Amino acid sequence: MPGVVIRKMHEDDRPRVMELLSFWNMAPRAASPEIPDPERSSLIVEHTFIAIADGTLVGVASYILHGNGFAETASLAVDKAWLGTKVGERLQTIRLIEMQTRGVVRVRTEADRPEVIDWYIRKFGYRIAGTARKKHDFGLSSVDHWTVLELNLTAWHPASSHSNDMSSVVGPGSFPTS
Ligand SMILES: CC(C)(COP(=O)(O)OP(=O)(O)OC[C@H]1O[C@@H](n2cnc3c(N)ncnc32)[C@H](O)[C@@H]1OP(=O)(O)O)[C@@H](O)C(=O)NCCC(=O)NCCS
Repeated sequence: MPGVVIRKMHEDDRPRVMELLSFWNMAPRAASPEIPDPERSSLIVEHTFIAIADGTLVGVASYILHGNGFAETASLAVDKAWLGTKVGERLQTIRLIEMQTRGVVRVRTEADRPEVIDWYIRKFGYRIAGTARKKHDFGLSSVDHWTVLELNLTAWHPASSHSNDMSSVVGPGSFPTS
């Protein structure tokens, strides 16, 4: 996709990132009396990638390191106008590569949309590990539980994801994805 650039998030990207996540009902929120234990309470900027197209932020993908080679994906979302254009695949691939370089061997992902669950399994080799009840309305409101997906990162290679040249992924700065 000419013109789409993937790079690490900067703090000043936060307003647009929150707008994008809010659109999908996925914005992190602080704990409150109504929601004492939010599904997501923060976004770790250093662990977050964004996609920029024609100067506009159109995608975001983050992750959380839990230690002992275990990590969790977080906050993957693409602007509605850009769905189906591989922005999500590129963001997912780049974060998996970075997790691998940080020694992660097992990744957990919670998803609720059937087509997205299928996408994770088909494109990246996840398996379904179970389900978990949502703590509150988050993501797709009509689904009250997460499908818990797991990926063995020791067996995953970016070559298994299509149309991504990830040779220059690691390191600061940005690179064009074409
Ligand atoms: C999951 C998500 C990030 C994927 O982003 P994306 O940029 O659409 O991803 P891709 O283009 O790489 O792949 C999407 C698939 O849907 C297909 N698709 C085509 N047109 C589409 C459209 N208009 N809308 C949605 N999907 C479409 C694509 O062809 C592709 O299928 P394929 O893998 O067989 O080619 C995006 O769907 C999204 O933001 N969903 C809502 C939030 C969400 O559920 N996030 C995940 C939380 S775990």
